[in-house]
Amino acid sequence: MKSSVRIVEVGPRDGLQNEKATIATADKIELIDRLSGTGLRSIEATSFVSPKWVPQLADAAEVFTGIHRAPGVRYPVLVPNEQGYERARAVGVDEIAVFTAASEAFNRRNINASIDESLQRFAPVMERARADGVAVRGYVSTVLGCPYQGEVPLSDVVRVARALHDMGCYEVSLGDTIGVGTPGKARAMLLAVASEVPVNALAVHFHDTYGQALANVLACLEEGAAVVDAAVSGTGGCPYAKGASGNVATEDVVYMLHGLGIETGIDLARLADTGRWLASKLGRETGSKVGKALATT
Ligand code: HMG
Ligand code: MG
Repeated sequence: MKSSVRIVEVGPRDGLQNEKATIATADKIELIDRLSGTGLRSIEATSFVSPKWVPQLADAAEVFTGIHRAPGVRYPVLVPNEQGYERARAVGVDEIAVFTAASEAFNRRNINASIDESLQRFAPVMERARADGVAVRGYVSTVLGCPYQGEVPLSDVVRVARALHDMGCYEVSLGDTIGVGTPGKARAMLLAVASEVPVNALAVHFHDTYGQALANVLACLEEGAAVVDAAVSGTGGCPYAKGASGNVATEDVVYMLHGLGIETGIDLARLADTGRWLASKLGRETGSKVGKALATT
């Protein structure tokens, strides 16, 4: 395993996009500012998708202009098309993430496009990003199963991941959107993709629906993955993925990594504090076991 791992904190985006309770814009800003003080180097701040599709993040521009961008921290945002790119650039975004899936059925529901149409939609975005010096991350969803199609062939995951990398995504995040994967399958999936895309350009993104996310992360770390997406307090889920639950909790990943002697640069106590603060804003307990345990010690 690598001696250091970079966490991409996706709570402010993947977490809050799926919450029933509306969080005040000021609280979203405070969440990101608190996260910026934990040592995280990458915080996905919000999403410039259609507000009709994801009303929870309709305040993306206000959030992005409200945060204090800490030196050395990257703040990528989700962008589905050129319209989203323009909205993001208008408020000074310098890193974006484009997203598609390995399943046609899921893509149709999530972004109203086929896989190939989505890639065509990204082409002008990638071109503008290159010209503007904007870094682009790519997501492949449903890498271990689809709520509509069921099984997703590995060859489809590899093809889509490779297409995003070939288009210029510096990193491709492999998403188990509905959290159905188990470690053997996660490992096989990572190895298959790594045969076509360098492993150092890959990230793993597990939702924890079946309680397998941490085990899946470990399996992928053992195969050389060194970038892990996670959401503080275990928030998360895709509104267009039936049955999807929260992301693996950042606190739990960091605790495991530090226990393995792997460096993250993150202050776990501050992170867990932020997770409990967020849970209180959402009106429920933290979804992180580590967050709960640290509160009582
Ligand atoms: P569409 O309806 O096919 O788009 O949606 P359209 O181009 O026909 O536009 C329809 C309307 O939306 C128009 O407005 C556009 O102006 C507007 P109207 O004329 O009706 O008033 N519109 C926009 N407005 C603001 N910003 C934009 C934008 N684009 C169009 N960027 C679209 C297509 C892609 C826009 C839509 O399907 C969409 O926004 N989908 C996003 C769904 C989403 O955010 N899902 C969650 C994120 S993915 C995820 O969570 C998975 C991940 O975590 C990894 C994993 O876990 O696997 C990343
Ligand atoms: Mg996700």
